[in-house]
Amino acid sequence: MAHTCRPVHSATATGSICARSSSRSKGSGVAAVASCPKFVGLRRLDSKSGSEGFAAVLGGVSSSSSSSSSSTRGIVSMGGSGKFFVGGNWKCNGNSESIKKLVDDLNSAKLEDDVDVVVAPPFVYIPQVVSTLTKRIDVAGQNSWTGKGGAFTGEISADMLADVGSKWVILGHSERRHILGESSDTIGKKSAYAATKDLGIIACVGEKLEERESGRTLDVVSDQLQAFADSLPDWSNVVIAYEPVWAIGTGKVATPEQAQEVHAAIRKWLSEKVSPEVASKTRIIYGGSVNGPNSSELAKREDIDGFLVGGASLKGPEFATIINSVTSKKKVAA
Ligand code: PGA
Repeated sequence: MAHTCRPVHSATATGSICARSSSRSKGSGVAAVASCPKFVGLRRLDSKSGSEGFAAVLGGVSSSSSSSSSSTRGIVSMGGSGKFFVGGNWKCNGNSESIKKLVDDLNSAKLEDDVDVVVAPPFVYIPQVVSTLTKRIDVAGQNSWTGKGGAFTGEISADMLADVGSKWVILGHSERRHILGESSDTIGKKSAYAATKDLGIIACVGEKLEERESGRTLDVVSDQLQAFADSLPDWSNVVIAYEPVWAIGTGKVATPEQAQEVHAAIRKWLSEKVSPEVASKTRIIYGGSVNGPNSSELAKREDIDGFLVGGASLKGPEFATIINSVTSKKKVAA
């Protein structure tokens, strides 16, 4: 996918330059920022909203830390494209026929250019999707094993996903955590291995309702993030999906304020525990009952860099509407 953004390598201005300045030469970060005053990528530069509010509401950042997650990772190049990112998680749905229709609908949909789009079909349909879906959209696995493979009945390795044309894998999804009993430790191992196969990782985190209600949202989310941080060699090909468990498949979407609040806190966590550069360039997408109508308000929020969509990604036209919600973000940026 074409990169429209690049990093700023200055001590104070971290992140990437928006598409409007992409034709600029490799000047200093400061000069480049001046040409694009409001947003880094699709994030607002001149607003501090969100980051401070979180601590007051949700109790501050967990004190857990790790020596392996430090700014010494040396990430200097733009990992993500700085573009909006929308993933469709088809979960355990569909058959050859319905997937053919969904692919046809996606192939004929008019999609905004500045969005990275990924769909995650059930494993067995990945070859069908890879061979029929427009190359405009990448394909992801919904899970992968902790290693190369072998005697692990029912598992799929990252090698296999890459072999059949997947570019991404979803790891740490709450349905795997809470229905299949995957621990953060296992998810970390899966992530570490998938990274060795150059798969992009959609790293999912999110709290259960009782955890939110007891004020533990950020502790839970930061512990889950820490497991990724402890395992990943770097964050260059990682998108974080914040998906509150209470919002997934329930029709009970987080309000834009609730989502923004946690996204800002995740970015703050990345800044403090990994590096400001990684915090700025890593896309943090929201998942949980996103649909066509609610996507545009969510998209406007500063730290919401896209979506991970379940149910609504099974309907091509509605998924296209969600992808194109980037236009509402661009209007805020204008
Ligand atoms: P949902 O699922 O959009 O159906 O709530 C989101 C997800 O699980 O990624």
